[in-house]
Amino acid sequence: MTVPQNATQPDSTREIIARCKRETRIRYKSKGDTFFRPRLRGINHLQVGKSKIIDSPLTIMIEWIFDQFRRLRRAWRRFTAGLFPRRPRLPAGHRDSRLVGRIIFAGDRGHGPPIHNLHLEFWGRTFWFAWRKIGEGRTDAEGCFALPFPLRAARRLSIRSLRLEIQKTTRVYFQDDSPHFHFDLFKAIPVVKSDLIGMDYNLRTIPLDYWLYDRGAVTPRALVDDANLGSPETYSRGREDALIEQVIPLEITKIKHLEQIEIAPDTLTIEQIQADYPVNLTCCIENDLPGYTRGDVWFGERMMNGMNRGCFVPDTVRAGHYWMRYFGVCWYDINDLYALPDIGVLFKIKDDGLPIPLEIHLTGRLSRSDHDPFRTRVFSAADGDAWLQAKRVARVTGAFCTEVEEHFAAKHLNAEQYAVAAYRNLRLNPVAGLLLPHLKEVSLINRTADKELIGGYIPTATALTRAGLQQRTRDILGLQDWRGWRPMKAISSAHTCAEAERLFWDVLGEYVDEFFRKHEDGIKGHWGEIQRFADDLVTHSVPVFLTAPRDAPPRDPRYQELAAQRLQYYCQQYGFDPHLPRETIHGELKTVSRITAASTHDAAPPQDWQNLKDACRYAIMQATYMHTWINEHQYDDLGEVRYSCGGLRFGDRPSGIMAPESDNGIAPDLTRSTQMLWFTNFLSRTEYGFITRNEERDVNPLLIHLLQDRREAFADLGVEIDAIESRTNI
Ligand SMILES: [Fe+2]
Repeated sequence: MTVPQNATQPDSTREIIARCKRETRIRYKSKGDTFFRPRLRGINHLQVGKSKIIDSPLTIMIEWIFDQFRRLRRAWRRFTAGLFPRRPRLPAGHRDSRLVGRIIFAGDRGHGPPIHNLHLEFWGRTFWFAWRKIGEGRTDAEGCFALPFPLRAARRLSIRSLRLEIQKTTRVYFQDDSPHFHFDLFKAIPVVKSDLIGMDYNLRTIPLDYWLYDRGAVTPRALVDDANLGSPETYSRGREDALIEQVIPLEITKIKHLEQIEIAPDTLTIEQIQADYPVNLTCCIENDLPGYTRGDVWFGERMMNGMNRGCFVPDTVRAGHYWMRYFGVCWYDINDLYALPDIGVLFKIKDDGLPIPLEIHLTGRLSRSDHDPFRTRVFSAADGDAWLQAKRVARVTGAFCTEVEEHFAAKHLNAEQYAVAAYRNLRLNPVAGLLLPHLKEVSLINRTADKELIGGYIPTATALTRAGLQQRTRDILGLQDWRGWRPMKAISSAHTCAEAERLFWDVLGEYVDEFFRKHEDGIKGHWGEIQRFADDLVTHSVPVFLTAPRDAPPRDPRYQELAAQRLQYYCQQYGFDPHLPRETIHGELKTVSRITAASTHDAAPPQDWQNLKDACRYAIMQATYMHTWINEHQYDDLGEVRYSCGGLRFGDRPSGIMAPESDNGIAPDLTRSTQMLWFTNFLSRTEYGFITRNEERDVNPLLIHLLQDRREAFADLGVEIDAIESRTNI
């Protein structure tokens, strides 16, 4: 393989790269519905094996009939709603009776915390099905309610049945630049008419399965139990449709490969699998510039501005030199199939501002016969083929860390902890309108990731087991805090990924400031919701990395040293300051800093106002721009099996993973190859819910406006603002 090593790129090379970026850029466009197009029932039906695709004409027909039935049912509901409108007017007369009770989160023994500010309505239905509103109100800070109503109105002869309706916020939409909330029925509790005799009718304590924390999870997660409780939220129809439409061709390709592997594996190769998926960025460049993507220039450029957006730590001695680290198996639970050594890359910044690798340090097992997890081998360009192999190994460990740590832990799990706390507590406070559009659906996609990625594909395609992955993602979440977080610092003018991050962070700063200015009274007036939001965030937060005995590394001093190195490196990578004062709850030093401890704004110190702004800005940043970056670049940097993957196998030779790309003994096997391409394609291609497209009218027009004002500035940094997602939902 010829590898160009020139430090400066000729114009023709730059043109080819630019053309390939253009040609392989993913665009979502609807192909429309055709009757006998294969279908998928929904995102939850996606599987890393063979998803349940509906492709037989008979099943498609049955599915169509069922779909028509559902449409008819919806139309019927709309019709009856029109026929029997629910008029908001309350009955006249002296409100001499009350419906009282208390609503709490369902707990182990029914002693969950109270649910405040839940909207409640008391409705009666007549013998001719008309609705009569009898009373309304909401729960107080202790979850208690007392809905006054005229007893005569409820006991009227015409009333056939009565029920208390508990409403939940399902959607936020923006009208006239202000957030509006859409409520839906969460639970209806029947009230027996003949029991209404005295002043108060007591419904006692009502435990609700409402946005509960999953007690079995090792990180703060919503309880999404399809079998018993259902989901706390559902995907929007548009999101489901977008995914299904894009994923079907990929699904058919994957199923074809899996069946061929079952029946005649010798008839399939990695190259054939690769050719069946869309051409990605590296394949496109390789077609015109063979060997270029394996060269030093491309390696440096992608480590800086690609999916990984690597972290550069200055060398202590040489100016203009930086170290990048990717930590391998560490002390996590592993299998014996895959290698995952630690990586240290020494870069020098060239005159054009891009990094060029000088040395790669691989520490750990590189072959099956290798048993020393702390042996380090150093490679440089003078090592010829071994240098090429070392760069591939670095790419692979880098991709693993980016996917498991940066993508899943620092973006998906991180966003979910804000989502659960927000949905549980923010109802009247305008901050709900600021946060919820950016936090919706993450609990659902994380549930799918539990099954298909953490519990499915990754343990079979990389060195870590499921238990190892759970521990590792919990550890990384122990480094994610809103306080003091800043975007990555650019180390040169070519560090466009850091510059774009800074630009988006500035946009969010302006947006959040303006939102707080406009809604100051509402935010201050409902400060109690902020206190409870903060309480949930802190109480359920994981302990700071390495501080809990159960998360501690082995006692061997070499592991202790590795742990110290990891902490130091991660602090820069994730903008985490371990020295900030944090709360200790039940002996655990909690990672997420407290926004406020005061239940009213008047009682809160001035700093808490800024804390809330900072936390909102941070949560939106992680759930939108930071997640989009990794998600959409997966296809660029993980879309060619031989170039990079989640793990290289040890193989049977003494050389282990230090072997050419053509060695099928170390490359992912055929099953893992098609699954990897399926994953990276569908994760990057099925995005839906973009800020500027605002498909569901839930993005604040001000944010869109601020972003559009900087369209050119983002474009100069290689970022198309129309591709930035408004939420983490894939
Ligand atoms: Fe994602």
